[in-house]
Amino acid sequence: MPIATAFDVDAIRRRFPSLSRALAGRAIVYLDGPGGTQVPDACLDGIRDYLTTHNTNTHGAFPTSRESDALIAEAHAAAADFLGGAADEVAFGANATTITFAVSRAIGRTLQPGDEIVVTRLDHDCNVAPWLALAQDRGATIRWVDVRLDDCTLDLDGLERAIGPRTRLVAVGLASNAVGTINPVRRIADAAHAVGARIWVDAVHAAPHIPIDVAALDADYLVCSPYKFFGPHMGLFWGRRELLEALPVYKVRPADETLPSRLETGTQAHEAQAGLLGTFRYLEWVGVTQGGATGEPGSADGGRAARLRAAMTAIRAYERALTPRLVDGLAAIPGLAIRGITDPARVDERCPTVAFTLDGHHPREVSQALGDLGICTWDGDYYAYELIRALGLAESGGMVRVGLAHYNTAAEIDRLVEAVAAIAHRRHSHTAGASLEER
Ligand SMILES: Cc1ncc(COP(=O)(O)O)c(C=O)c1O
Repeated sequence: MPIATAFDVDAIRRRFPSLSRALAGRAIVYLDGPGGTQVPDACLDGIRDYLTTHNTNTHGAFPTSRESDALIAEAHAAAADFLGGAADEVAFGANATTITFAVSRAIGRTLQPGDEIVVTRLDHDCNVAPWLALAQDRGATIRWVDVRLDDCTLDLDGLERAIGPRTRLVAVGLASNAVGTINPVRRIADAAHAVGARIWVDAVHAAPHIPIDVAALDADYLVCSPYKFFGPHMGLFWGRRELLEALPVYKVRPADETLPSRLETGTQAHEAQAGLLGTFRYLEWVGVTQGGATGEPGSADGGRAARLRAAMTAIRAYERALTPRLVDGLAAIPGLAIRGITDPARVDERCPTVAFTLDGHHPREVSQALGDLGICTWDGDYYAYELIRALGLAESGGMVRVGLAHYNTAAEIDRLVEAVAAIAHRRHSHTAGASLEER
């Protein structure tokens, strides 16, 4: 396994053109990754190449259409390698939320009144609201799982109690987009399967940080968003083949009944799939150069899955090593309170996403002041709607959220910590009256 110190972050950064953007002579610090990451050159090249050379619709009897078909098939195969599934189990869509609403509607056609769905108060509303709506429409019952507020982890005993003989689906996140907690999804999947229920995994926040393997998780459905892991704005879905084949999906009649076509309504963003292929080629390069994998990025040698896994393992090791610097640096600032896991011994239980409040300063004020310095962070609830309310922070503007990606450096963390410390020293506060619309 690669060691964190071997990670060549300068070489990584050279692959991301946007990282050279400056504000008032200083490079912008992108700590807004949980809202959407920057993209590497290969992603940009893929989009440009598609639109300049191959742009058309699918299944036509002419070269650009055949090329588009091949590219789309390749994008599905690469995404399957990224997630550990099969190419026909992968479907693209507009974003994770739209996919979750669409597939949940189809699942709803199989539910009976009195069936139960388990949801958590740690999840992004993308993995809550669609199930609430479905329960209302189908007469199903929602069982809530609470969060232990001292460290923002799921109440696992409560979760196991919430799962029972009427449970049909357990909806859970792989990692929290607010406080970074990584949930023990395999354990939750085992509990769901023990009663014959299915598990729906929201891996949107986890995907840029940790290797994902749907088989190891024993997931039934999993959704993530390429724009959160260095790709274009689009959504990515995986489901177990036998479930997807049986799913009573909403589709137009002439559309192909085979997988994945039966899941992909209308025309997809082909250029985004081309960009995503570029992102995967970039990640393969990370796997080779930083993770010790072998082979040529983008080659058809069958080693892509191993290169992608090596990339995410190297990224995880690098981010894991940086996380205590961020957590400890922020935690040492007077009046600053981090919600979530702060113990360095528990770094394996979290992603490098840290949310905090600062006494006497509205989160919008802090984020605005950082933004003025060219340091991008989020404030609000980022749609972690239940969690922010459970923490009692909805009325006070939520929290400031800082998210590391593998292109961030120790020097950037130090710059952030210094800037937050300077803000903390300002005595007065003003309430910015910001809404909680921001993710
Ligand atoms: C954990 C999590 N789930 C779901 C979503 C929604 O993703 P999308 O914008 O692709 O619908 C987000 C976006 O912030 C997220 O962080």
